[in-house]
Amino acid sequence: MNNTILVTGGAGFIGSNFVLQWIANADARVVNLDLLTYAGNRRNLQSIEHHSRHVFVHGDICDESFVASLLREHQPRAIVHFAAESHVDRSIAGPAAFIRTNITGTYEMLQQVLRYWQALPEGDQSVFRFVHVSTDEVYGTLLPGEPAFNETTPHAPNSPYAASKASSDMLVRAWHHTYGLPVVTTNCSNNYGPWQFPEKLIPLMVLNALEGKPLPVYGDGLNVRDWLFVEDHCAAIRRVLEDGRIGQTYNIGGNSERSNIDVVTAICDILDELRPDPSIGGRRNLITYVKDRPGHDRRYAIDATKIARELNWVPEQPFESGIRKTIEWYLAHLDWVNDIRTGAYLNWIEQNYAERLAQ
Ligand code: NAD
Ligand code: TYD
Repeated sequence: MNNTILVTGGAGFIGSNFVLQWIANADARVVNLDLLTYAGNRRNLQSIEHHSRHVFVHGDICDESFVASLLREHQPRAIVHFAAESHVDRSIAGPAAFIRTNITGTYEMLQQVLRYWQALPEGDQSVFRFVHVSTDEVYGTLLPGEPAFNETTPHAPNSPYAASKASSDMLVRAWHHTYGLPVVTTNCSNNYGPWQFPEKLIPLMVLNALEGKPLPVYGDGLNVRDWLFVEDHCAAIRRVLEDGRIGQTYNIGGNSERSNIDVVTAICDILDELRPDPSIGGRRNLITYVKDRPGHDRRYAIDATKIARELNWVPEQPFESGIRKTIEWYLAHLDWVNDIRTGAYLNWIEQNYAERLAQ
């Protein structure tokens, strides 16, 4: 078997950070399978475009014969499965793509990977791993003061996105339990950092604030998320791939619970410092409370003691330095931003916010 891993969704936000970190730190080849939906962007991978250990393949995880031939051709020793539809608001506006990619796509991956794994020689079978990258949103919502989600918290998804990811977690679990496929699942909290598509809270607010546009805070702004710098998440996945126990689940989090309004005001203050603009004035004035997301989960919090204890992983980047780094990254990559603000992106922003801002 080759010293190769196969990553799905490696042109998206977390996947591209993972592939870049992998090339910088590991010695194995990475085959990067991505459909290049609106969320996938080859520019994220420009610095390793011609790297001898990176192979980009444009394709669909739902295409079973294509996935089967890719596995035959590259003989990976592990799969890291990121590919998904990932934005809650889009899942509310149009759930079909989430059912297709997150559920059917994971099923097709499991089936093809199982056939491939069953045909491997015994020694190769025992080192093989399928790492399934999932989210804390599968656990549902917490009230203030309730204990954080741990690995035994029952799945109780509330959005179409969360339901599709919970379904994929269940499929992965069953393929291990029934067929013995050597899987490990991770459930991580909200990521932020370089290359995040500006439909998500942090990059959307950074760019709107930079340009003096309204900052649309849903509901009362007191929903709480646990924020993890993306490079810490990628390092955790590498630890899970190396030493995670087969059939286990690991929660990954940043120990950084923040209300949305606290995140947005922090962004305003850092931008006022880095890019003062008298025509905008204090950017906190741009904050606009808008109509809430339907079914909006109140609070997520992760208990990450299991991965700390078993795999010696803890988050390294505190939120205060991570958010500053992220803002500086966006300021230095406005050409990337302009490149992805295509017609399709502008249509989504128009669709999602027109009605909310009219409140
Ligand atoms: P993203 O939306 O930025 O990227 C998803 C990538 O998957 C894109 O490159 C897209 O082109 C690709 N893709 C979509 N459908 C595909 C298909 N059918 N075949 C092949 N490729 C396809 O997502 P992200 O934020 O990088 O999230 C990656 C994974 O991590 C997802 O599984 C998500 O559920 C999980 N996750 C994300 C967060 C977060 O905060 N962003 C937190 C925890 C877990
Ligand atoms: P988001 O980045 O979409 O991640 P998720 O919904 O997966 O947690 O949103 C993070 C939080 O920010 C969530 O509570 C919804 C809120 N939010 C806003 O208040 N305004 C916005 O424009 C967006 C996109 C999100």
